[in-house]
Amino acid sequence: MINLTDVERQALIDLASEARRRAYAPYSKYQVGAALRTSNGRIYTGVNVENAAYPTGICAERVAVFKAISDGERIFDVIAVVTSNGGTPCGSCRQVLAEFGLNTIVLIADGKGRLVQETSVNNLLPGAFKPEDLKSLG
Ligand code: THU
Repeated sequence: MINLTDVERQALIDLASEARRRAYAPYSKYQVGAALRTSNGRIYTGVNVENAAYPTGICAERVAVFKAISDGERIFDVIAVVTSNGGTPCGSCRQVLAEFGLNTIVLIADGKGRLVQETSVNNLLPGAFKPEDLKSLG
């Protein structure tokens, strides 16, 4: 697990807050912004993107992860997630984050950019089903 300074924390939260303004959430009106920092120091933001066919929408966290993966980044140090009320990542996003490492730090912040909770993927998804769980199949 990496160590973060207060300045690093706030910088990521600020990027997630800024991204959040670009959320496309006309149905729920619940705007979410994420900022994911990789081990190379690259930062990928994401927003939730809803759809008139509701289940087709996607969360901000997964947009950030998929952007990073499609750029060749696979090691994630920390993700900041900003919502109006400091809501936590959904189960699907926890599972997607767990695929790439249980030690990723998760910063959860509110609409004023205040850190509400600092945790890890491991804490958010104890007993996660992981890539290694498929290895016994050979
Ligand atoms: N949402 C996220 O973007 N991330 C989460 O972890 C929780 C939920 C989005 C999905 C949907 O667009 C809206 O918030 C309401 O569920």
